[in-house]
Amino acid sequence: MTNFAGLMRLQVCSCSIPTQHHHHHTVSTLSRRALPLLKKWNKGGYKAPRRIVLGLSASFLSQLLTMAGIGDVVGGNSFIASARIKGPTSVDQILKNVEWPEQFPFKEEDFQRFDESPDSLFYDSPRFVTHIDDPAIASLTKYYSTVFPPSNTPGVSILDMCSSWVSHFPSGYKQERVVGLGLNEEELKRNPVLTEYVVQDLNVNPTLPFEDNSFDIITNVVSVDYLTKPLDVFKEMRRTLKPGGLAIMSFSNRCFWTKAISIWTSTGDADHVMIVGSYFHYAGGFEPSQGVDISPNPGRSDPMYIVYSRKLSTA
Ligand SMILES: C[S@@+](CC[C@H](N)C(=O)[O-])C[C@H]1O[C@@H](n2cnc3c(N)ncnc32)[C@H](O)[C@@H]1O
Repeated sequence: MTNFAGLMRLQVCSCSIPTQHHHHHTVSTLSRRALPLLKKWNKGGYKAPRRIVLGLSASFLSQLLTMAGIGDVVGGNSFIASARIKGPTSVDQILKNVEWPEQFPFKEEDFQRFDESPDSLFYDSPRFVTHIDDPAIASLTKYYSTVFPPSNTPGVSILDMCSSWVSHFPSGYKQERVVGLGLNEEELKRNPVLTEYVVQDLNVNPTLPFEDNSFDIITNVVSVDYLTKPLDVFKEMRRTLKPGGLAIMSFSNRCFWTKAISIWTSTGDADHVMIVGSYFHYAGGFEPSQGVDISPNPGRSDPMYIVYSRKLSTA
């Protein structure tokens, strides 16, 4: 039964859709099948793919989306449910007025992955590539430039979590301390914005090797979907952020699907915003998180979403 559900999930995965710019992404026969549908959905402005979701956690997401007034749930209580985003700005609405259940709604199997081999193997060889297209990168960089403290502000420290050879910070951006944490040392060594780096597998050891209240900002780009212990990591983000410190999680609609968690590969963009929002909520000690759609060119380049929150000044 588990295997059957897993297979169904792969069929509706909207991640890892190969494009000319993304030769490095794992291509599956199943995701190839999804490609024409995705193209159709993306015509004429951004719409999250209609999706089929299985299992309690996923239908929980549909219910939340309906409560947030953006869901279009068909058979919300049934085995199969679907939802879509109705307009280009609704990502910004998703996390407003969510009534979170008391308990974290996801189950252990939601964090399983198709490839359960150690992540250190998967990231063993450097990939000097970009994982999103240039307009999406430009949009993220522009967003950073509006929320980051000015370059060279004394005392400012930043952590780029799940970092590589690029952090997409504004050109020439500098701070006293910019730490990169990731899995490939060759990539981290080449990242010009970092003043130091750490190689650590967060799925093996989610404890961040930094003191309490260290960072003004934590960034994470197109990688939150690989975390199998997200609540532990988000609690660590809270611990290591300074009070009022800002966590900026960004993601698109593609991924190395064999390495992404099952609840991510079986759901759509709107759900992803909700999933990341739930991490902030259940980790505790954060202000209510917000979603932002910074997609540069809806339908014609990679979408780009931000979910951000600040550590409570009292936490
Ligand atoms: C898709 S890449 C994104 C890299 C970079 N943030 C960017 O925007 O180009 C995923 C990154 O997450 C890191 N990563 C994946 N699994 C990880 C894990 N278990 N622990 C720590 N980092 C991980 C990898 O080292 C890799 O750099």
